[in-house]
Amino acid sequence: MRFLVLLVGVVSAGLAASAFSRAQEADPTPTPRSGYEFMAPQTQALQDDDFVNPAFFSVEAGERLWSTPMGSEGLSCASCHEAAETSMAGVAARYPQYDPDVGGLVNLEGRINQMLTKEMGAEALAYESEALLGLTTYVALQSRGMPMAVDIEGPARPYFEAGRDYFFTRRGQLDLSCSQCHDGLAGQKLRGDTISQGQINGFPIYRLLWNSTASRHRMFAWCNTSLRAEPEAAGSETYLALELYLAWRGGGLPMESPAVRR
Ligand code: HEC
Ligand code: HEC
Repeated sequence: MRFLVLLVGVVSAGLAASAFSRAQEADPTPTPRSGYEFMAPQTQALQDDDFVNPAFFSVEAGERLWSTPMGSEGLSCASCHEAAETSMAGVAARYPQYDPDVGGLVNLEGRINQMLTKEMGAEALAYESEALLGLTTYVALQSRGMPMAVDIEGPARPYFEAGRDYFFTRRGQLDLSCSQCHDGLAGQKLRGDTISQGQINGFPIYRLLWNSTASRHRMFAWCNTSLRAEPEAAGSETYLALELYLAWRGGGLPMESPAVRR
């Protein structure tokens, strides 16, 4: 509750200061800045050193799974893709993307689950399960330092637009849009946090508040819940579209996965 009260204070001050108009809301396109820049030095230090970054437990779990046979075909990821360092380099930076076979967007988690179910005769893994977070983090690590670059044209376009609309729509008891905090108030203090631009180049992240590695969709749900808005399901079409918009919005930012965030 204290969080919410402070939030409303900060937000109304911010709103008064910047007098949001629809025109501003429609085209903020801030110069992308990674969430890293908004973290305290101690948090940055955890991310800077792979030996202390707690997300590397997930990386290690993913690395083990990569070469473990899973499913009825007796195959591992490595059976087909060999060394992830080469076969997966740059892959995560291009997700989410439109997949004609699915007739919709798939993100990295979705692609990995497709591999399990279609190529390996295994069950899909649950969102936020240690195994799926591990594989996703391990694959995403292979894009570290590479610029996020998703395709929003052609069949991806309507999803991109839906994601952008979602980002600018006010919702919840606080009647706030994602943009109002992450475009309008970026850099302002909110209790211990400095509000960032809400970029997604660090995911999966290790979130100290949760003591765990976490997906992009878990973070979206947390922000929705903080506004007293109904969160969407992880992996839902709405969150995939939002993810595509955010990946485009942060286009060019180097991938940091796995980042450490407060
Ligand atoms: C009331 C302000 C507020 C609103 C509105 C809000 N968030 Fe956030 N968001 C935060 C805070 C506080 C954090 C944690 C500190 C930070 O990174 O900004 C955060 C973090 C994030 C992050 C993680 C950034 C990183 O570098 O790891 C993402 C992504 C994000 N928000 C997306 C969203 C989306 C999508 C929406 C709309 C559904 C939204 N937020 C709405 C306050 C807000
Ligand atoms: C039977 C062979 C096979 C197995 C086993 C397999 N894959 Fe794949 N994978 C493919 C093929 C074929 C493609 C599509 C061609 C491509 O994009 O490289 C693909 C594509 C991918 C992609 C998308 C690459 C891109 O450029 O968009 C990812 C990520 C991926 N696989 C991860 C995995 C993971 C993780 C596992 C283990 C859980 C796995 N794969 C197991 C054959 C396999």
